[in-house]
Amino acid sequence: MSTEKILVTGGAGYIGSHACVELMQAGYDVIVIDNLSNSKPESLARVEKITSKSLVFVEADICDKQALSDIFSAHDIYAVMHFAGLKAVGESCLQPIKYYQNNVYGTLVLTEVMQAFAVNKIIFSSSATVYGEPDTVKYTEDLPVFGATNPYGKSKAMVEDILKDLAQADSLSNTENPWKIILLRYFNPIGAHISGLIGEDPNGIPNNLIPYVSQVAVGKLEQLSVFGGDYPTIDGTGVRDYIHVVDLVKGHLNALAALKNTSGCKAYNLGAGKGYSVLEIITAFTRITGKDINYKIVERRTGDIAEYYADPDLALRELNWQTEKSLDDMISDTWRWQSANPNGYE
Ligand code: NAD
Ligand code: UD1
Repeated sequence: MSTEKILVTGGAGYIGSHACVELMQAGYDVIVIDNLSNSKPESLARVEKITSKSLVFVEADICDKQALSDIFSAHDIYAVMHFAGLKAVGESCLQPIKYYQNNVYGTLVLTEVMQAFAVNKIIFSSSATVYGEPDTVKYTEDLPVFGATNPYGKSKAMVEDILKDLAQADSLSNTENPWKIILLRYFNPIGAHISGLIGEDPNGIPNNLIPYVSQVAVGKLEQLSVFGGDYPTIDGTGVRDYIHVVDLVKGHLNALAALKNTSGCKAYNLGAGKGYSVLEIITAFTRITGKDINYKIVERRTGDIAEYYADPDLALRELNWQTEKSLDDMISDTWRWQSANPNGYE
């Protein structure tokens, strides 16, 4: 059991709250900074309920340098898990400044304060979207980070560049406290904690497939639009690599352990290495929940790619991590959360 203190930015959000649970259960002390722009403090109350432990919550923005400095002054932080960020692709196209300000400038402030307090370990929530549209469906980490099609994706690629530059600067300066950075490129996180107490609670009408399907199943939304039925895939619908959120956050704990022996900046895919189509997801959802999903195949969504999934081998070799949960686990855990909390944390 570790007693190190971890600063979790965005810890009240979907993935951050699950990370808090795993960290606290592994014995870490957790300090959360979150501005609650896309979350509710109830998620953290539920984290404490699941773990029977308490965490420190600071309601503040990562762009607020003073608030961050106060946290680093008050706590001897060992490492940062950096989840805080805005993630709605469509909104990022309409409000690019907001996305660059929050995601890119926010990370600059965070890393500046970390450097001032000689905290050198950070794990960053990146995305498979940084690969753009390569000529392959199986993504390896050595593909160029190039061609993200929207400001959200570009903000992730920019932050990756900034973090790589920090490590690069160390290699030129013989510093005694070099950065130790891991970039985790998520594929499609879904599912919820097995307790059904925490899960994904999107604001308004969901953009992503699984939250939409669950809200159709629970009766909140009428019909799912399946975006495109003529892709060159197994059944014409889009194929993605869905990964259980608990598997995903366990990857972060392995990354945290690996940081001890990491120097510089390294990127890893976190995915299952297998894709499922939209129709396969609908069929599995109906089988597991007993709910018929009303759906209609419509036009393709702009910016969507037919099919991609992770090559997860590097994470297995270097982080000793691979997914453990099945698609059935992902769907039954999503359903347990959604049916017990039809209105999320409200
Ligand atoms: P989320 O919106 O549920 O969580 C993000 C949290 O960060 C929220 O609680 C929000 O209030 C907080 N936040 C945002 N900006 C902040 C700021 N400036 N200061 C303080 N807090 C701030 O999203 P999530 O799904 O948990 O995603 C977590 C991270 O993983 C994000 O960086 C996201 O881009 C990345 N990611 C998510 C997915 C996905 O499918 N969910 C895929 C790839 C990458
Ligand atoms: C999307 C984002 C990606 C982001 C990720 C996690 C786009 C283009 N991509 O990925 O940048 O990192 O979310 O936040 O927005 N689908 C439907 N009907 C729906 C919703 C989705 O058919 O109502 C289909 C999509 O066409 C796709 C699959 O379901 O084939 C998965 O979609 P989604 O859950 O939105 O994830 P991505 O598009 O992979």
